Amino acid sequence: MISENEYKKRRKRLAKKLSSNSVAVLFSSGYKTRSNDTQYPFRQNSNFYYMTGFKEDKSALLIVKKKDDIKVILFVAKKDKKQELWNGKRLGEKKAKKRFLVDEVLVMDDFEVQLKKYLQATKELYFDFLLDYSKVKILKRYAKTLSTHKNIAPLIQKMRLVKSHAEIELIRKAINITKEAHTSLMEMPKSGKNEYELLAELEYVFKKNGAYSDAYTSIVACANNANTLHYIENNKPLKDTELILVDAGCEYEYYASDITRTIAVSQFNKSQKELYDLVLATQLEVMEMIKPHAKRSDLQKRAVELLTVGMLRLGILKGSVKKLIKKEKYKKYYPHGIGHWMGLDVHDECPYKDTDGNELEFKEGMVLTIEPGLYIDKNDKNVPKKYRGIGIRIEDDILITKGGYENLSKAIAK
Ligand code: GLY
Ligand code: MN
Ligand code: MN
Repeated sequence: MISENEYKKRRKRLAKKLSSNSVAVLFSSGYKTRSNDTQYPFRQNSNFYYMTGFKEDKSALLIVKKKDDIKVILFVAKKDKKQELWNGKRLGEKKAKKRFLVDEVLVMDDFEVQLKKYLQATKELYFDFLLDYSKVKILKRYAKTLSTHKNIAPLIQKMRLVKSHAEIELIRKAINITKEAHTSLMEMPKSGKNEYELLAELEYVFKKNGAYSDAYTSIVACANNANTLHYIENNKPLKDTELILVDAGCEYEYYASDITRTIAVSQFNKSQKELYDLVLATQLEVMEMIKPHAKRSDLQKRAVELLTVGMLRLGILKGSVKKLIKKEKYKKYYPHGIGHWMGLDVHDECPYKDTDGNELEFKEGMVLTIEPGLYIDKNDKNVPKKYRGIGIRIEDDILITKGGYENLSKAIAK
């Protein structure tokens, strides 16, 4: 669990980054319509959650800064018995005052009046440029006289790069649940089943362990379906000779896990094994490069080299390694990156470059995925027939440590 004190410290760090006479606003997410009057399950905005830990909609955070004087106000929806009968209990102003270590808690109905008041004393407003349009409209009403609008998102996203101890514990918990789900799927008899039956097993284990949701729509892709990178139909029958690519991770208390395993319905044949071994060897070698000050682009470069050499050996590519890499011929079979930041979002919205455009080096406490893959379309006539229709990805979640790295998902069988 993240303590209220940790949230308070984050707000203080954020306030320090704001210019000396400014107001910053962060809004909660709103419900999104699924069909007619039904909604998708609510998911809080990650930046708002990072600063508050508050899971309700119709809330906002206001930080008012005047030189060294900082005031933090949290706005929450007011208690409303009628609404609560239908939609569940609200925390309300009184309890929020007890829970949150902010200077003031007010109800959301007061938000506009307060915003107007504080904007009279400053000309600088920070807000998240990716906000819902309706929220931007509210801000614009008061922001006409402003000299500057600034995007608050990059300031928070930079803070989110390095995870705290408490955050890492939540990621570990998410990965542990995901481990149980993948293991359960590996152990179930798969012959004669459909992709959706495997998906159901994953979702059952996630939910049974109190995971709020999946961190992204799970992928259960047999045979050639694995060559669609974000295949989410998950509704085809499995054949005994096929492989299944399973890319699935739960979200636990807002923290993601992101794991891919490629397994066989019954057992691997020789060509499936050759491709699998190439991807696995690549993953293992690339992981060994991870330590503070290493760079993601160097990992990608090495993955490209290893996969290209391997594909040349298997007769999937032809020519010289150097030329194949220069002409990016590998991209047809390895079209994505080696991995991405992971945290409150599966693709954590953190920067990859500093403000000068230089690539960020790894630092203790960062979390990223390492996920090489090879995807050979079933209709690709340039490739020996035995490899066609096979798609393989292996993905683990890695914590950068002081001395190197920890593979947080190493207990999930490969
Ligand atoms: N599951 C999405 C990804 O691996 O990036
Ligand atoms: Mn990933
Ligand atoms: Mn994934």
